[in-house]
Amino acid sequence: MGPDLRRLLAELHEEGRRHDAAEPEHRRRRRNLEPDAAEWLWWHVQAVAAGRVVEIGTSNGYSTIWLADAVAATNGVLTSVDVDAAAQDVAAAHLLRAELTAELVTADGGAWLSTCSPGSVDVLFLDSDRSRYPAWWPAVQAALRPGGSLVIDNAISHAEEVQPFADLLRAAPGWVTALSPLGKGQLLAVAPS
Ligand SMILES: C[S@@+](CC[C@H](N)C(=O)[O-])C[C@H]1O[C@@H](n2cnc3c(N)ncnc32)[C@H](O)[C@@H]1O
Repeated sequence: MGPDLRRLLAELHEEGRRHDAAEPEHRRRRRNLEPDAAEWLWWHVQAVAAGRVVEIGTSNGYSTIWLADAVAATNGVLTSVDVDAAAQDVAAAHLLRAELTAELVTADGGAWLSTCSPGSVDVLFLDSDRSRYPAWWPAVQAALRPGGSLVIDNAISHAEEVQPFADLLRAAPGWVTALSPLGKGQLLAVAPS
């Protein structure tokens, strides 16, 4: 990643931090991924040479830009899904500034995941409404390819909210999970091969 893109990402993260500090309404906050977790995700997509990456929770596109840069390196494709069309307009403008592309879809993450071709996703990043993740579990399992990876943000900062989904993952035969302290805590899981 070049210095210009790193500068843009640092600028967006700082803007998001200031925006969130001044925004009383939770749902209108950017709630960007922390830079160390974003950089790990960027590295991971390239390490596994992911061809198809899906993000649920676009917001203003901060993590989307990290992922879009990673799939540019793997010749892959990124889809980012969010229920908030206005946030995705902002994300589209930021992707343009970054000279990167991603397919932005305005939809409920679970509904959209259930339309994915079975086994078509190499890396799935969940950063949206944590209370919905358990209901999305069947669609998550179907969408991921064998050996595909699942990354869930806020596994430490909002551990109680992530717990029901973490319990499903840990009980699922063949799934391998780990908890990383990066950012706000990343729950990592690999689908059975
Ligand atoms: C924590 S923010 C995402 C931050 C973003 N990944 C980043 O690092 O810049 C959560 C996003 O999830 C979206 N969201 C909430 N419920 C959703 C749902 N059911 N399906 C898809 N997106 C949803 C919100 O609109 C919000 O933009």
